[in-house]
Amino acid sequence: MVAKYEGQKIALYFYTFSVLLFIVQVIVGIIAAGQFLSPDFFFLNFNTIRTLHINSMVVWLLCGLMGATYYVVTDESQTELWNVGLAKFQFLATVVTVLLVVLGYIWMGIVPSANKEIFGTLLLNEGREYIEAPRWADLLIAVSAIIFLINCFMTVQKTKHWTGIQGTLIGGLTFLVLMYLPGMFYTKSMVKDQFWWWWVIHLWVEGAWEVIAGALLAYMLIKTVGAKREVVEKWMYIEVALVLFTGILGTGHHYYWIGTPSYWLWIGGVFSALEPVPLLLMVWDAFRTTREHREVANRAGLFFSVSHALLNFLGAGLWGVFHTLPQVNKWTHGTQITTSHGHLAFYGAYVLLVLAMIYVTLPAIRGVKEFNYSRAIQSFWWMTISMVLIVLTITGAGMVQTYMERIIGLDYVAVKAQYNYWFWIWRIIFGFGFLIGVLIFVYDFFTLGKERETATIIETSKA
Ligand code: HEM
Ligand code: HEM
Ligand SMILES: [Fe+2]
Repeated sequence: MVAKYEGQKIALYFYTFSVLLFIVQVIVGIIAAGQFLSPDFFFLNFNTIRTLHINSMVVWLLCGLMGATYYVVTDESQTELWNVGLAKFQFLATVVTVLLVVLGYIWMGIVPSANKEIFGTLLLNEGREYIEAPRWADLLIAVSAIIFLINCFMTVQKTKHWTGIQGTLIGGLTFLVLMYLPGMFYTKSMVKDQFWWWWVIHLWVEGAWEVIAGALLAYMLIKTVGAKREVVEKWMYIEVALVLFTGILGTGHHYYWIGTPSYWLWIGGVFSALEPVPLLLMVWDAFRTTREHREVANRAGLFFSVSHALLNFLGAGLWGVFHTLPQVNKWTHGTQITTSHGHLAFYGAYVLLVLAMIYVTLPAIRGVKEFNYSRAIQSFWWMTISMVLIVLTITGAGMVQTYMERIIGLDYVAVKAQYNYWFWIWRIIFGFGFLIGVLIFVYDFFTLGKERETATIIETSKA
């Protein structure tokens, strides 16, 4: 390995943990899909499997972003991490905490009564979707995140030179860490509890994480096609400002029906309807920059970066705006329409972002300039076509569900078991297609740059 800085090897550790959890997430996703047809076929119930599916997703995406950040700060600052030992410790602490939490979920899946109350909190599972980790783990995660932030901040501070990308990236990460805190805030009121819970979930994916995506997109465009820093940073500021302007009050689209005051109907409706604007700007930014620069330094990296921008807009922007107005949402709320959007948004915005960052930075970490990118493209198409088909399948299921259940008034289980049956079968089939794509990617991740000679030969024979 010829990474320039030790800190860049830490990025590799985080990436490795990430891609392994990615496999776990998708396998348990397929099991969850199977349980729609046969609820008892696995030794863990749907509720445990679903928790594992979405928690492993959040964790691997966050680990991927941490890895990427360790890389970016050392690369942009051209200096070693402030404290490499601390970063190694933070990696190990993260892995240990995550494994303990996962074991806890499984244990509770087998023996539900094991989730006892200690010190007024629950030992194994707090039971709030996406952030079910128990309180002791919340605290460890918060400490690990703070160590990570300090390390990155001090690394840039060493050089006393903040680039716009670094500032935006670390600003976004700080926002991310701060927004974890409302998730630890309990009240006895269900309304207030949900109110704060959405701060974490919504202000993460439609606030902090999109800010990080904006910063990383600018970085990737500089690295892959040599875009001019002044230009991409200028657009980055506009995108990030618009993300915050629309996204913060856009939180209102989750406050329509949970008992919050009715003014949220129009605040949420108006602001969230504008959320696709910055996402569209990012697409335009990616395409314009690519068109203006013909010299591509890293084709796989560029391919994933542009695809990320495009699918971020489709999954978050378009599939989000479909059901964001209260007039529509009152029919679709909490149906498979929501699930279809959840899948395409997370895939387009954040799965592809992390994979793009891996393809942009991994060759340098392994010390190669050129590599055979055919597997990257293959895995992309397997994953993307399968995901689009999964999303179309569950959008169909959601339309049937909305109509049968909310308009005709049929029973929830009747619709799920009878009218949506074939949608569930197709989802499993496409799920396996997605898994094939993931396995090709993970194989590529472990071998990239290690087959250097073949890579060079392929490049020259093409030329
Ligand atoms: C990358 C960004 C985004 C991600 C990852 C994302 C993901 C999700 C997920 C997972 C849910 C389901 C939450 C639950 O379990 O209840 C959800 C709900 C929702 N999202 Fe997004 N979303 C994103 C952006 C957007 C945008 C930009 C809009 C609007 C333009 C939007 C509109 C909605 C609405 C209205 C709901 C609530 C659905 C319901 O009432 O059941 N989302 N989102
Ligand atoms: C990287 C790819 C994937 C991402 C980002 C992802 C993301 C998510 C998210 C955010 C949710 C919660 C959203 C909600 O229920 O509203 C969810 C639930 C679920 N996912 Fe995935 N998932 C992925 C792959 C898969 C695959 C391949 C399958 C199986 C074919 C699958 C099956 C499920 C099932 C069955 C649920 C529960 C849905 C429900 O409660 O109605 N997922 N996934
Ligand atoms: Fe939202």
